[in-house]
Amino acid sequence: MAVRDVYQRPLRNLRISVTDRCNLRCSYCMPEEDYVWLPREQILDFEEISSLADVFMELGVDKIRLTGGEPLLRRDLPALIRLLAAKPKLNDLALTTNGVLLGEQARPMGAAGLHRVTVSLDTLRPERFTALTRRANHAQVLAGIAALAPAGFTGTKLDTVVMRNVNDDELPELIEYGRTVPAEVRFIEYMDVGGATRWSTDKVVSRAAMLETLERRYGRIEPVVEESTAPADRYRLADGTIFGIISSTTEPFCGSCDRSRLTADGVFYLCLYAQQGVDLRGPLRRGASRDELAAVITGAWSRRADRGAEERLRLRDRAPLVQIGRLREDPHLEMHTRGG
Ligand code: GTP
Ligand code: 5AD
Ligand code: SF4
Repeated sequence: MAVRDVYQRPLRNLRISVTDRCNLRCSYCMPEEDYVWLPREQILDFEEISSLADVFMELGVDKIRLTGGEPLLRRDLPALIRLLAAKPKLNDLALTTNGVLLGEQARPMGAAGLHRVTVSLDTLRPERFTALTRRANHAQVLAGIAALAPAGFTGTKLDTVVMRNVNDDELPELIEYGRTVPAEVRFIEYMDVGGATRWSTDKVVSRAAMLETLERRYGRIEPVVEESTAPADRYRLADGTIFGIISSTTEPFCGSCDRSRLTADGVFYLCLYAQQGVDLRGPLRRGASRDELAAVITGAWSRRADRGAEERLRLRDRAPLVQIGRLREDPHLEMHTRGG
């Protein structure tokens, strides 16, 4: 039985960050020049991640998504995939990547038992990509996406953070590109999470505005009616193409949120906007039993009352969630440490 929080939301969906490092510097996530990285000796090894995953699965988790930073930077990642893919209680194992290393990694990851990935792709224009990420790897990302289907991956998704006057003129092109992959494209509203220090309301393109743009191009757009706790609402174009919108900023979905995250150094966070987490590495390395770890996790989840995105929506003057000084003091507040 899944543990439930104060709003009866079950603990089901765990995002495990395997590294806080990244090989890109996307302006909505890592806008600064310098970063404070997690100390290496504090990063969980694969056995530790696997033991914690077992405890989480006893408490209701049946979906695990590997995240980063950029997860493909973690050395020997297929070995972790092999450990997790072998767990009978896990219904779904996926990974979110920026795609840069997919060309070389898709096959070994597929062979290890991973079959589904989400790739971040904000633009189809190389010079825009360089401006947005401060790295010139656009061609590598496209080659990485192209390597997925031949390596046996299905259910590929492409995530686009839509920002006003940055890439909001590319929505139809991205949908067209998604068809060729094939992949479902999802447009994400720019969020004022920790790390998004350049966020401002005027850069947010709302779901309503995105739909309006797309209806001008494609005509009538039908919502796909389905029961789901996924953050994306899905839509269908007249020709059957499906795309998604994740409206975390203007129309949050906290009411049905069953996600939590484990940082690479073993801190358990219950909300993307949470300022404090629960350390699991300490007890794990001190030799805590499974039951003791389960008690820590259950205690945290059963007291969970987070509705981070909804609370942000109620603010009048909305500015970045955390200022740089605090991010430097505690890198766990960064989106790239928390893994989205
Ligand atoms: P699947 O449904 O398994 O494909 O996973 P997913 O939809 O969680 O995919 P992904 O990890 O790609 O998440 C997509 C984006 O949704 C993230 O990058 C965030 O921008 C946003 N997001 C993910 N989790 C949360 C959350 O808990 N709260 C909010 N408000 N936004 C989230
Ligand atoms: N707003 C929305 N999504 C974000 N991501 C990172 N920062 C933000 C933000 N400020 C998500 C995007 C990206 C993934 C790595 O993290 O989906 O593709
Ligand atoms: Fe869940 Fe927090 Fe995101 Fe709301 S803001 S959906 S509670 S993680």
